[in-house]
Amino acid sequence: MADHSPKSPSGLFVPSPEIAHKSRVPDYEGLYARAVADPLSFWEERARLLSFVRPHHTLLGWNPETFEGRWLVGAQGNISFNALDRHVAEGHGTKVALIWSGDGGEEKALTYAELLEKTIRFAQALRSQGVGKGDRVAIFLPPTPDQVVAMLACARLGAIHAVVFSGFSQAALRSRLEDFEPKVLVTADIAFRRGKRVPLLDTARKAREGAGSVTSLIIVGREGAFGGELLSGEHRLEDLLDRVRHEAPLPPEPMGADDPLFVLYTSGTTGKPKGIVHMHLGYMLGTFATTREIFDIRDSDVYFCVADPGWITGHSYVVYGPLLNRATVLLAEGTPEYPDAGRHWSLIERHRVSIYYSTPTTIRLLMRQGDEWPAKFDLGSLRILGSVGEPLNPEAWFWFHRVTGGHLPILDTWWQTETGMIMITPFVSTPEKPGSAGRPFPGVVAEVVDPATGREVKPGESGTVVIRTPWPSMFRTVFRDPERYRKYWTEIPGAFFSGDSARRDEDGFFFFLGRVDDVIKVAGHRLGTAEIESALITHPHIAEAAAIGKPHDLKGEIIKVFVVLHPHAEKNPPGHDEIKKHVRTELGGIAEPHEIDIVVSLPKTRSGKIMRRVLKAREMGLPEGDLSTLED
Ligand code: WT7
Repeated sequence: MADHSPKSPSGLFVPSPEIAHKSRVPDYEGLYARAVADPLSFWEERARLLSFVRPHHTLLGWNPETFEGRWLVGAQGNISFNALDRHVAEGHGTKVALIWSGDGGEEKALTYAELLEKTIRFAQALRSQGVGKGDRVAIFLPPTPDQVVAMLACARLGAIHAVVFSGFSQAALRSRLEDFEPKVLVTADIAFRRGKRVPLLDTARKAREGAGSVTSLIIVGREGAFGGELLSGEHRLEDLLDRVRHEAPLPPEPMGADDPLFVLYTSGTTGKPKGIVHMHLGYMLGTFATTREIFDIRDSDVYFCVADPGWITGHSYVVYGPLLNRATVLLAEGTPEYPDAGRHWSLIERHRVSIYYSTPTTIRLLMRQGDEWPAKFDLGSLRILGSVGEPLNPEAWFWFHRVTGGHLPILDTWWQTETGMIMITPFVSTPEKPGSAGRPFPGVVAEVVDPATGREVKPGESGTVVIRTPWPSMFRTVFRDPERYRKYWTEIPGAFFSGDSARRDEDGFFFFLGRVDDVIKVAGHRLGTAEIESALITHPHIAEAAAIGKPHDLKGEIIKVFVVLHPHAEKNPPGHDEIKKHVRTELGGIAEPHEIDIVVSLPKTRSGKIMRRVLKAREMGLPEGDLSTLED
């Protein structure tokens, strides 16, 4: 048994030597040193574990002018082949690939052979709608096997997918469709949320009205084929599948170093979400190697990551990384409290889950429900715990540690939509410090720098996190916005600017402190203040708005907004509920403000920029700082 019990009063948790020794990375320091000295050999060894139609001639082509990292140059291969066909060909077709637990408790399991079969059929259905290599497909589905299959089917065809989280509103979906301009949109007739039916198709249809590029809308029946009327350009998935039933299996498309795999929209500092572009082969290498070495995946593992595949965590660590490693993946629809707070614990017991990759908000939520919930279940199958999305505070760390037996490693993993793969993390074999995300993955050079000079700060001092060298699953660009991509690399010249602040201790451990830009993290979801503000001012009574993130015990941060009304609205001001509902309709439930203040004016600089920093300081009762640029 691993012994991650406290060995020093400083709160250092040390793994037992025999567990460390048997893990995939038994000597982190040695491996890190070797990878830094020769990163190409390090990644080369990992690339060799994957299968290619044609091998690469150059592992990495790095362009320091454009900041483009071309990985596996000359190779031809396919991530869907490596995630499915390869395992079936190697005799593992009967191994369970995906266990799905629906919002209402219904369950389904698919073997690797079944998942491959479904993927091939789905790819054929897409092809019947004119989708081929390089074409774009938007996927607006709840977290179900069909969502996973749709992604893998696009990858098989060499089509570029953009998965949109199914909780987004029609306006949010529409703005993504307008930017992405997909040929095909895949959606479901309905979704379930806490037992309630959500009319997903209505949302997709309304969003499509503004998106002329979509020639075909494919409807997946959430509970059997969709029975309603079809509008023009709409197809039932089941009908398309019927038509392709007799076609010969479709081979995977050979993809190269410059072929994208997907675009995923995320929030930045402007009002418009940015389409982060990930590349087929490099992304495959990065997610494969990190899943294998961080989660120490073995054939007997049952791996449960709580993310929706609609977010990057789901892309990399529900779908691609684990399937590339031939893992058995548990995908759970719904929330950790529905039907009750035992939802995750009971899934762990019933499916003998050995790796549970969760989020700080989930852990804190379960912590509030009390020890009796985890105590009711047999959690003895667990061997590794993980967390991602926001800092895991020590209180939640200790609770998670205690209720799962007091001996399991907790891997607090740091990364981003842009990085595609985990960049900073503890390992099963390394000591852990509660509140710290550990140290960089081998081959990753991460530093905490002074934003003014770009130089590394001293241990214990805080600064901005940058990545100095290219990594395989790095994003290649921002869709249709190369300037925005450049900005990531020019803020600190030549390094990737993460937008996060952290301090590093004398042992090199990172402690993340939050964002340095106008990005808010609500329950791990990333939202831009400008996005929320733009949504607010589309309300006919709102003239100006400012949004800030306010620290919160459960969600990490909550959204607080300040609004200035139009003079005509002052006699009949909109209520808080109306303002909340407005944002929900514009952006979706995750962006709904928690607190609203109606004010007469906002603090601004002389050039008219809203000083959110001042609002935040006031809100938290802190000094307001330098006010010399304040207009009034
Ligand atoms: C931002 C990226 C990539 C996973 C899901 C979020 C924050 C992520 C941690 C962590 C502290 C973390 C950062 C980062 N974040 N993981 N372990 N400790 N902060 O992806 O939506 O692109 O958000 O999430 O602020 O920049 P994302």
